[in-house]
Amino acid sequence: MTKPTTTIAWAALRGHRTASGDMNMLNLFQQQPNRAAAFSVEAAGIALDYSKNLVTDETIALLMDLAKERGLSERIQAMMAGESINTTEKRQVLHTALRARSGSLPEHMGEVSAVLKKMEEFVAAVHRGQWRGFTGQKITDVVNIGIGGSDLGPMMVTQALTPYHQRDVQLHFVSNVDASDLTETLKRLKPETTLFIVASKTFTTTETLTNARSARHWLLDSAQDDAAVARHFVAVSANIEKVKNFGIDADNIFPMWDWVGGRYSLWSAIGLPIALACGMANFRALLEGAADMDEHFTSAPLDKNLPVLMGMLGVWYINFWDAESHAILPYDHYLGAFTKYIQQLDMESNGKSAYQQGGYLEHHTGPVIWGEPGTNGQHSFHQLLHQGTRFVPADFIVSLTSHNPLGDHHTQLFANCISQSRALMLGKNAAQAQAEFIAMGYSDSEAAALAHHKVMPGNRPSNTLLLEKLTPRTLGALIALYEHKVFVQSVIWGINAFDQWGVELGKQLCTEIYPALAGGQAIEVDGSTAALMQKFNAKQQ
Ligand code: F6P
Repeated sequence: MTKPTTTIAWAALRGHRTASGDMNMLNLFQQQPNRAAAFSVEAAGIALDYSKNLVTDETIALLMDLAKERGLSERIQAMMAGESINTTEKRQVLHTALRARSGSLPEHMGEVSAVLKKMEEFVAAVHRGQWRGFTGQKITDVVNIGIGGSDLGPMMVTQALTPYHQRDVQLHFVSNVDASDLTETLKRLKPETTLFIVASKTFTTTETLTNARSARHWLLDSAQDDAAVARHFVAVSANIEKVKNFGIDADNIFPMWDWVGGRYSLWSAIGLPIALACGMANFRALLEGAADMDEHFTSAPLDKNLPVLMGMLGVWYINFWDAESHAILPYDHYLGAFTKYIQQLDMESNGKSAYQQGGYLEHHTGPVIWGEPGTNGQHSFHQLLHQGTRFVPADFIVSLTSHNPLGDHHTQLFANCISQSRALMLGKNAAQAQAEFIAMGYSDSEAAALAHHKVMPGNRPSNTLLLEKLTPRTLGALIALYEHKVFVQSVIWGINAFDQWGVELGKQLCTEIYPALAGGQAIEVDGSTAALMQKFNAKQQ
């Protein structure tokens, strides 16, 4: 298959972009009274309103032509059927098998349900106080030690599902090799009632192994008996041998598989912290929500398909409007880590320039993902969204119902959310700005001179994702929606969304630099690195 830029649809979209240079959203709403309904789709408990975008029916039709020309439907089926679409690592991509309903993907159903059963028994044993520490006391705290996909997914979901916490155990997450992370966490805990989950697909990640070793020392300093490790350490990994070599009991290993990518792994036993925090029924509901979205993604027509629409809108802005970043703005305090999670999902998947079939791409691919929960972002970076020189499409995510119906907080939150997307679209012209200055008591000439400081260009696009309520099921669907959106874009661009070779060089260099620093030796490196090493070594003597 040729590169996307050589397709007929790409050329048509270029032409369409030029022809519709002054496309104005407010005019589009005036011209089409039912635009909000026409540009809305609902599935798996999530309603997407994409009417505040710089698109017409023709734009959507052309974007769907591009999707068809790139063979999107066939690629979706190939992923779901377990073809080895991760060609550079020669692997299947089957995170969807982890949440598949019985009957689908039968070759993996057995091992998946066996691990779910093992998780269920473990969670029950910890919750009922049958799993005891080395002094015979119940476990009160669980520390997940992992990084990247072995941290962000379970951490984000555990936080998002706080209203579902069963409070039997407290969850903690340690990821950074900076000792401050582990030290500050352990300060609050007692070895005899703390359980560690060492989560690492490869079990070779140095940050995780360093933290796990220090955690083991902390435990053994207190227990003074190696046998305590079996009561206080479990692991989630695809590398069973390495886990055993680390000294974790074979019975305490929750397996995962090569066909689950790290950043797509929260549905596997990597989700154990979620199950410990919220109970297995809620973990299964999360899987159900993702399965709802999988079903929609595989069966809905392309132009009524949430992940396809969101993915193609992203392509429209990145490749035809030169958008460099994309803001994700959840108006939900519980989704405090959602943007951070999507950062890894999107940027580690699509932050690439190698064309899967050879050579490099000459156009932009995955955007910089950033954002914070509303309304906090409004009092910080929204200034740039409204008046800055950057073009930043945004996703607003909000629920109709709050878990905490306190006074009018939720009404205020919701009002802020939809006011922001409206303000981005509406903008403010010079006459309005001038009138505002006059109303503030400025003279006519002052108002005329200052008006442009208040002018907001408007016509800035956004999606609104509406959830009935943030539940395990709707959250599962929301995460799967973004997973599939990222996949859609990778298909259009022709990149492999499932490898991450770009993170390797830094790791390789660190394997030379770290021993040199630890041993106080000089090695052959560039002048800057050498000087920094020298400074560090001088302080260690
Ligand atoms: O370095 C990147 C990465 O490989 C991520 O893709 C992955 O989620 C993370 O490291 C952790 O890997 P592991 O689970 O093997 O420790």
